[in-house]
Amino acid sequence: MHGFPEMRLRRLRSSTAMRELVQETRLSVKDLVYPMFVVEGRGLKQEIASMPGIFRHSVDRLHAEIDEVMAAGIPAVLLFGIPKHKDASASGAYARDGVVQQAIAAIKAQAPELLVITDVCLCEYTSHGHCGILKGDTVDNDKTLPLLARTALSHAEAGADIVAPSDMMDGRVAAIRKALDEGGSENTPILSYAAKYASAFYGPFREAAESAPQKGDRRSYQMDPPNWREARREVEADIAEGADMVMVKPSLAYLDIICRIRQATDLPLAAYNVSGEYAMVKAASPDIVEQKRLTLEILTAIKRAGADIILTYHAKEAARWLSE
Ligand code: PBG
Repeated sequence: MHGFPEMRLRRLRSSTAMRELVQETRLSVKDLVYPMFVVEGRGLKQEIASMPGIFRHSVDRLHAEIDEVMAAGIPAVLLFGIPKHKDASASGAYARDGVVQQAIAAIKAQAPELLVITDVCLCEYTSHGHCGILKGDTVDNDKTLPLLARTALSHAEAGADIVAPSDMMDGRVAAIRKALDEGGSENTPILSYAAKYASAFYGPFREAAESAPQKGDRRSYQMDPPNWREARREVEADIAEGADMVMVKPSLAYLDIICRIRQATDLPLAAYNVSGEYAMVKAASPDIVEQKRLTLEILTAIKRAGADIILTYHAKEAARWLSE
């Protein structure tokens, strides 16, 4: 055969059934993780203006949301905490009765089989909004490590199934692995935000988590968007330090990174479909049919690029659309 007219690629696109038969990438609700914001206080359910449909809940208001996540068949949530009190040493991050620690216990009591992943970072807990301890104007890498390790262990002790460091300090995976192992949480896996870029797509998240840096930006610790070889080095370093799974973040402007990291490692690979990506879809069209098509196309593309796991604010609606 020499191609057209013997070969006609359109033959396999003739009907829905035919297209489904030859579909190469299948998105499933089982691929999805739903990020949630838990705010300290009582009786709170606050919609995030830049992320329609996404709320901050206080621990006592989480119940209904967890019921929805379970009913949708979503296998995991990712927790972010917003404390009342912030200070220079981020003490709320590793407090035994901190907002995330309480949320983990509440969720595990309600839905033991739902996987609880926690974001391990200090930015929501520091008065200055940076992801670590400041020395002058810069984030002190080595002084930050013990606090991250303590935070991760406190999450594991509260019942977290997976801890996910997102701070981008060097050596944090090793520090966390050591603390977990010494603290008796040797069976808790680490999902490292290995290739996390200093991205403008985190804008809405910083409103949601009240974690925008008061001055400066995160470019001295998060990755520079033009670089891909450096992403491979980050991933290699995190694997050497004991990461069980790695993540690329954001997703849409970084599909090439997802694809290349997929080829560079056999570890499970996660991709974070971040707040700005969610907000763009919501801003693109008020039409729900259009939103469904945009969302499923985006999530499928992230999976096609090589992600096994997709962290996305679309998880609940995508679960519904996938089952229609
Ligand atoms: C905390 C953290 C951020 C996100 C996840 N963990 C914000 C940041 O690094 O500024 C972004 C998530 C999103 O935009 O959806 N370090």
